Amino acid sequence: MTTPFFDAVIIGAGAAGLFCAAQAGQRGLKVLLIDHADKVAEKIRISGGGRCNFTNRELDPRAPHKHFVGQNPQFCRSALSRYQPADFIALVQRHGIPFHEKHKGQLFADRSAEDLIAMLLAECADGRVERWQPCGVRKIGFSTPSADGVSAHSYQIDTDRGMVEAASLVIATGGLSIPKIGATDFGYRIAHQFGLPLVERRPGLVPLTFDGDAWAPYAQLAGLALPVEIGTGAKKERMAFHEDLLFTHRGLSGPAVLQISSYWQPGQPLAIDLAPGVDLPAALAQAKARSRKLIANELATLVPGRLADAWAGQSPDWQRPINEAADKALARLAERLARWELTPTGTEGYKKAEVTLGGVDTRALSQQTLECKAQPGLYFIGEVVDITGWLGGYNFQWAWASAHACAQAL
Ligand code: FDA
Repeated sequence: MTTPFFDAVIIGAGAAGLFCAAQAGQRGLKVLLIDHADKVAEKIRISGGGRCNFTNRELDPRAPHKHFVGQNPQFCRSALSRYQPADFIALVQRHGIPFHEKHKGQLFADRSAEDLIAMLLAECADGRVERWQPCGVRKIGFSTPSADGVSAHSYQIDTDRGMVEAASLVIATGGLSIPKIGATDFGYRIAHQFGLPLVERRPGLVPLTFDGDAWAPYAQLAGLALPVEIGTGAKKERMAFHEDLLFTHRGLSGPAVLQISSYWQPGQPLAIDLAPGVDLPAALAQAKARSRKLIANELATLVPGRLADAWAGQSPDWQRPINEAADKALARLAERLARWELTPTGTEGYKKAEVTLGGVDTRALSQQTLECKAQPGLYFIGEVVDITGWLGGYNFQWAWASAHACAQAL
């Protein structure tokens, strides 16, 4: 029996793999899409709280460093410029999928992320994409072109359903986040097999944790959410976000913390302004001049009541009527709320991280096509590459754009 031959075999039927397969198939290529998981596109299904934040209108392809992290964020400029949020929005509209904008340009499906999965599967059907799922991949082989030039290079893919051969091999197996729905290190292993450099991986867009004893006074605040300014890093490379913070039993979460986690380095402190935009020293001084209420009660007019109670409870100097408080004590309280410094001990890890930072080193890939510079016909797209977007639809836009760039080149 002869080995079935495909123009392209794509491994990973997630966001990038499905989109690449559809586009390549619609260009007339014979495409096989393989995924080991039982269900297609599980990450799209659980994304955006089940509504999939599928892109972001604020993405500026000319300035990728604004919303993307990696050793060289400029790498994604070419792909992002050639397939923009407006292109994906037009596709979503063509499929009649209703969507809405939340804050900061984030677009979500009105009904469910299932609408987007159905759209991608319909696009694959249009391109006559063959999909093998669930199907594991055991081994990848590569043959160089024959010396007489009669046969070109090809990849041999040994799968649970038998051997297949392809002119091009696309790795779209994503990162390490959420192993229980199918994440593996497959892409990094294939990169290693072909001698590609890798940038160290770590969880990104992830809640941060703190030492149990040090966290005990704040554990009572679990469930409290409030807008903050959060920053990390020394002056030159300092990053800061204005977003909501969420207290949890083990540490901090919410959009503010997820965003900063992608920039946080172990051992580095975070600085959090718990009352951004409020002139706390002035407000407390005014309260002192006109009120006899407890400091906690006055503070509760400026920040959430639970936070006010917890903060005032930290020092006997702050547990008294405000008119009896020393000016210095009020200044310290204001300072501690406006610049709460704390050093996380770690993260909640890949079981909670939305993305994986690091991955295939972009220096090894063409920014126009995502093909390996030193390995013809081998492509890496989506999250497996050392490009990580901010929270807010940027990661899916990178998946669509890198998939599109690759599909045009196959
Ligand atoms: P993706 O992870 O989508 O797909 C990889 C595929 O490869 C999977 O189907 C997997 O089963 C398969 N695979 C892995 N190993 C394999 C192997 N050994 N053999 C065969 N197949 C294998 N982003 C965003 O922009 N907006 C959002 O709203 C969210 N929300 C969100 C919520 C949560 C909870 C998470 C975990 C993540 C997000 N993200 C997000 C991030 C986003 O989901 C992610 O960046 C993209 O799905 C990456 O697309 P890829 O196609 O690269 O990988």
